[in-house]
Amino acid sequence: MSQIIRFQDVSYSYAKGTPYEKKALENVSISVESCDFLGIYGLSGSGKSTLLRLAAGLIKPSSGQIEIGRSARVGLVFQFPENQLFGSTVLDDVMFGPLNMGLEKDKAREMAETALRQMGLGAEFYNRSPFSLSGGEKRRAAIAGILAMGTEVLAMDEPLAGLDPEGQESLCDILERLNEKGRTIIVVSHDSDVLGRRCRSAVVLENGRVSDCGSSGDVFSRNPGFAPLSFRVMEKVKAMGINL
Ligand SMILES: Nc1ncnc2c1ncn2[C@@H]1O[C@H](COP(=O)(O)OP(=O)(O)OP(=O)(O)O)[C@@H](O)[C@H]1O
Ligand SMILES: [Mg+2]
Repeated sequence: MSQIIRFQDVSYSYAKGTPYEKKALENVSISVESCDFLGIYGLSGSGKSTLLRLAAGLIKPSSGQIEIGRSARVGLVFQFPENQLFGSTVLDDVMFGPLNMGLEKDKAREMAETALRQMGLGAEFYNRSPFSLSGGEKRRAAIAGILAMGTEVLAMDEPLAGLDPEGQESLCDILERLNEKGRTIIVVSHDSDVLGRRCRSAVVLENGRVSDCGSSGDVFSRNPGFAPLSFRVMEKVKAMGINL
């Protein structure tokens, strides 16, 4: 496997050089393998969203370097991305990105349709108003808008927030399928119960620094506070000497 994103000694401060300067990340060195499904954990304010913004190139490091492999495209899915839906139809909305990138209308349409299909939204959704969709469908349409731009790496900030349990599971299944088909997925999540079980690797941030990283299993054993409930139960059962 090759590395698709590499942070080398990356620090980032907001409002640098002003009295409000705030160091959000400090000397972060991590690498993300191509096709990984990576979870980023940490308490509120630990720097998770800042890390995603840097990976997507929305902000530049104050110091250190970020390398993105083979001119890969990193798409950032903000928290509650459905708030940014605006097209009069679902298809128009998802075509906006590829059109904006300068693609011909036919090609943009093809990219949009593929992305919608991958997000579980078939032709019956194309002409609906985005505002008539259910919460889970809106979320998936908004993610399709990012995918339609040819995104190889999907970086997502709290992608399950505010969805009902069914919407959460179905979005997780879709993300897993995208990952199996070769997309690299990076998710920030407060609550690892649903998503953490799907992640292969994990990074834990503490006050802007990486406090742990590795395979999900190893990281969860060392940081039980971030582990999914099912994982903690299994660990207890094993500790009781029961081998399942
Ligand atoms: N635009 C900004 N201007 C100034 N400080 C900021 C800005 N955005 C974030 N910060 C600060 O940087 C630090 C890291 O913020 P960040 O949003 O990356 O944390 P987070 O881990 O995503 O938190 P949460 O889980 O609450 O979303 C915090 O102390 C935050 O207050
Ligand atoms: Mg955040």
